[in-house]
Amino acid sequence: MRGEKRLEELVELSLLTSSIMHDIRGYLSAIKGHAEIGAHITSDSRAKDKFLKIVDLINQMSDMIETFGKLYKGELEFEQEEFFISDSIEFARKLLMRKLSGIDFEVKIPEIKLRCKRKLMDQVFINLISNAADALENSEKKIIRIWCEKKNNKLSIFIADSGCGIPENIRRKIFSPFFTTKGKGTGMGLYIVKKLLSEIGGKIRLINNKTLSKYKMRNDNIMYEQLKDMKTVFEIILPNEILVR
Ligand SMILES: Nc1ncnc2c1ncn2[C@@H]1O[C@H](COP(=O)(O)OP(=O)(O)OP(=O)(O)O)[C@@H](O)[C@H]1O
Ligand SMILES: [Mg+2]
Repeated sequence: MRGEKRLEELVELSLLTSSIMHDIRGYLSAIKGHAEIGAHITSDSRAKDKFLKIVDLINQMSDMIETFGKLYKGELEFEQEEFFISDSIEFARKLLMRKLSGIDFEVKIPEIKLRCKRKLMDQVFINLISNAADALENSEKKIIRIWCEKKNNKLSIFIADSGCGIPENIRRKIFSPFFTTKGKGTGMGLYIVKKLLSEIGGKIRLINNKTLSKYKMRNDNIMYEQLKDMKTVFEIILPNEILVR
């Protein structure tokens, strides 16, 4: 019964979400129209730049909303590509450049190529790195560390930060849609990550505190060095089939 009620709520929420998305797109296109006219009629070159910047940002937002809508309906078609994991991470880093200022961003990934939907991996890194940056806001030590490990025919990519950590009582909920502890969050970031990874046969998990302290105590493993100062560690597990040799 509780499950049914929850499902009903989710269906209602998704209808509401798509109707809100629809309205937002309408407003965005109106704002874009005004900005385009502004850029056209002003003779001040700085004002023109600002108007064009608004047009750019609105285009980005519209793309985001469209992607989100398609993801929701399961219509997302990304192209298969061969690419280096480090390039996908670099793409995310550039996109989040402003948010990452003042943060040590340490990436230790050897040259490993994947063959899968590149945009999907980009989005996974964007969401996880963005969360890590949020978690570092009030931390003294600001480190984001990304590394990988091959085990049992699978590739694990670790994304860790020295931020506020995730309290025990919410650890179970973080992958649920709309779960957020942030004032301005949608709570969809990790849910989307999970969904995207499952499309390529991958998985994500949050390393629990017990496992973390176990690794941190023994200095005879690769993890030991990497885990220094880390409070939150996510592990992405990718299937062997998408690794290019
Ligand atoms: N690296 C992290 N450190 C601490 N807490 C985290 C971290 N990543 C996720 N969380 C917790 O999990 C919650 C859900 O994350 P998720 O990315 O799904 O949504 P959000 O970040 O709150 O919203 P949005 O992604 O829309 O900005 C966050 O609100 C936060 O409480
Ligand atoms: Mg997020």
